[in-house]
Amino acid sequence: MDYLIGGGHRLNGEVTASGCKNAVLPLLAASVLTDEPMVFCNCPDIADVRNMLLLLQATGKHTDFCDGSITVSGKASNNLLPAALCARLRGSGLLLGSLLAKTGGASLPQSGGCAIGDRPMDIHIDGLRALGAEVSERKGICCRGSIAGGRYRLRMPSVGATENLLCAAAACVHPVTLENCAVEPEVEQLQQVLQSMGAEITGMGTSTVTVRGGRLHGCSAEVIPDRIECATYLATCAAVGGKVTVKRCVPRHLGAFLPLMKGRFHIEEGQDCITICSDGVFEGFGYISTAPYPGFHTDLQQITAALAAVACGKTVIVENMFENRLTHNASQLALMGANITVRGRRAEIFGSKLHGACVTAADLRGGAALVTAALAAKGQSRVRCANHILRGYENFEQKLSRLGADIRAIED
Ligand code: EPU
Repeated sequence: MDYLIGGGHRLNGEVTASGCKNAVLPLLAASVLTDEPMVFCNCPDIADVRNMLLLLQATGKHTDFCDGSITVSGKASNNLLPAALCARLRGSGLLLGSLLAKTGGASLPQSGGCAIGDRPMDIHIDGLRALGAEVSERKGICCRGSIAGGRYRLRMPSVGATENLLCAAAACVHPVTLENCAVEPEVEQLQQVLQSMGAEITGMGTSTVTVRGGRLHGCSAEVIPDRIECATYLATCAAVGGKVTVKRCVPRHLGAFLPLMKGRFHIEEGQDCITICSDGVFEGFGYISTAPYPGFHTDLQQITAALAAVACGKTVIVENMFENRLTHNASQLALMGANITVRGRRAEIFGSKLHGACVTAADLRGGAALVTAALAAKGQSRVRCANHILRGYENFEQKLSRLGADIRAIED
């Protein structure tokens, strides 16, 4: 699927943030830990969620997705995950910890996700081994055994590894302490849900977390709003001009992004909404360097680069999390007339006027960023391979259209 986009139309109105992709995926993985029903509301209907449900079904779980609510029930009995499904999303790897804890084993033939760089799973593997599991890496990742408890310090605060180890620990009767954990809001939501399932967790939302697990039961939870989706609409309005309110969001979850925007645009922050006013004319962002939460989020790096491409003046962006997340989009922005130079993980951008062009999305966030750039450019653009965007954004084109964007999906 491609998007045909007419640039230069201001955005106005309200848009509601959907539930967060990166929160719901680990919650679905955690549902393997109990045979009792788990109910999640505010779930986004996006490709990654649909594929995660197929993976759960492959384990033997029943799933039902209706009106934004997902119910997962039944018993996981098959712990060999199908390779083709695993390859569709990075979130497949999140099933390792809970399947191991529930069934005594787990086999992940391969993991997928966006092509944004080498995405090793050494911390997941090292952590599971340190806590007592046997892990082999001959055909993908195969774990066996049980979690014996203990203490483990993550080499770096990996979101996925923290989530995997939390799920593995939640079914273990011996205490597990994890140090140098990721502290993203999505990780904290997983901790809250594991606690509602019966695990006792101390240090929630901090970098040192102790889990005392055991027999877990079902529960229900509302998925937190998607902070990246929220920031995407704010950034797009900033780039093209207009006034947009993003409803049902959590402003503090936006980390370093919101202060950056407040320095250049008129922003009103409510308890669960953010309004931005922009005339489309703004200064470059100086120096931005991506970092784990609450630092500047790597998932917002590409859209910030698109904004910087139409700003007045210079922006330097350093991508510290995923080595390939700068290059592709930089080349596509250049096709639209952007003045952007990439050396390794560093991009130097001098704002200019963009013109319409045919560009290609190579990953989810990068694809959304190219749409932002196309909406800010003069003339028509075509964003090819826009299916990447549907992995993570619910009703993307409809939400933008309702704000006044000229965007239309066509089959390529
Ligand atoms: N890393 C390792 N070894 C590991 C795990 C991670 O070296 O075992 C490195 C990665 O290569 C990367 C850094 O650690 O350099 C951070 O990776 P992390 O594990 O935190 O990322 P992830 O769990 O694979 C999640 C999100 C990503 C988001 C990152 C960073 C999900 C399903 N994915 O990925 O979201 O960019 O955290 O916040 O939660 C997206 O939504 O488009 C997306 C890519």
